[in-house]
Amino acid sequence: MNKLYLLGIIITVIMLGATYLSVGMSKGGLNGDIVNMLAVAGAIALVIITVFVVIKYVRQMQTDTAEGELADESWDNIGEYKNPVPMGWAIMFLGTMVWGMWYWVAGYPVNAYSQIGEYNEDVAAHDKKFESQYASITGDRLVEMGESVFLAECKVCHGIAADGIDGKAANLNVRLEEKTVKAVIENGSNNMLLGTEMPMPDRNGLFNANSGALITDAEINTVAKYVANGFPASDKAGAEVFAGVCSSCHGMDGKGMAYVAPDIHEFTPELVINVLTHGKKGAIGQMPAFDRLNAKQKEAAAAYVISLSKGE
Ligand code: HEC
Ligand code: HEC
Repeated sequence: MNKLYLLGIIITVIMLGATYLSVGMSKGGLNGDIVNMLAVAGAIALVIITVFVVIKYVRQMQTDTAEGELADESWDNIGEYKNPVPMGWAIMFLGTMVWGMWYWVAGYPVNAYSQIGEYNEDVAAHDKKFESQYASITGDRLVEMGESVFLAECKVCHGIAADGIDGKAANLNVRLEEKTVKAVIENGSNNMLLGTEMPMPDRNGLFNANSGALITDAEINTVAKYVANGFPASDKAGAEVFAGVCSSCHGMDGKGMAYVAPDIHEFTPELVINVLTHGKKGAIGQMPAFDRLNAKQKEAAAAYVISLSKGE
């Protein structure tokens, strides 16, 4: 028998044996499952067809002789037959060019899969579902939701008791710490606390209406204590400076005025939401913006912060 066929038969037997072993038929692996049977039958057919097609072509290479009309050109003595371009090949070649142009101009730029795009779509869909599911939550449930947002996102800096971990971040159990009030008066503030750009002037722009002069160091100390202590009625000196310098913008009670100055007496939902949206840079440090929280989560975090400073 021809050596080639002998080799083919040996390879076939080896590959069929390998199929038999890897499928595990020897251990009853197929269990009469019709789909497995079909797959194995397919594998066997592929092995046999592949081996014998390869043999056919190898034989053809061994025995074929060339015939036809030679073209005039000779490439370093290598001749070329005048073969017509096969129609199927020509169609595929042109088709590939057309597809290639479409792919670069429209196919890829317009339709390409984007992981970032899919992520954004998923987040938007989730937020929508989230908002509709939790839109109606108010009161204690909102505070509870805010507490879980706080524990997940905020406690790393503000601490589990929201005390700011020894000055690492703001102590949220009080509206303002003395050092923050002092720093804001000294340097001004430009943190979009009202949601838009509306800076507070620094000490060179703060006049005491009672004296008609710029605010003094002593007045800064006095009023900073007054604000940080929560506007105690007993602190007459502090109240006087506040009325003279601050009340024109922050209101007599420190509760702020829309579009003019924020509430510095108590945390308000607007203030916390603005801090979460824009971040904040102050005497204590840098608070990052929280783009990843959706509107309801910010509202909930605000409710939780407000509940803290009320001592609830
Ligand atoms: C001209 C108006 C104006 C005057 C006067 C003014 N403020 Fe302000 N204040 C603002 C505005 C506006 C902001 C918000 C700034 C921002 O977005 O960062 C602000 C912010 C603050 C903050 C920051 C609040 C926070 O949450 O960080 C403190 C504290 C404060 N003011 C205290 C005072 C005190 C105390 C006085 C008086 C000595 C005073 N302000 C006078 C307009 C004013
Ligand atoms: C990377 C640390 C960090 C994280 C995380 C963080 N904060 Fe802050 N936060 C700060 C710092 C620092 C300040 C003080 C900024 C300053 O100097 O006034 C601050 C200040 C605040 C203030 C006070 C704003 C004011 O007007 O005085 C609030 C409210 C607040 N954070 C809420 C939150 C909430 C809610 C979260 C979670 C969603 C959070 N923070 C997460 C660092 C952080």
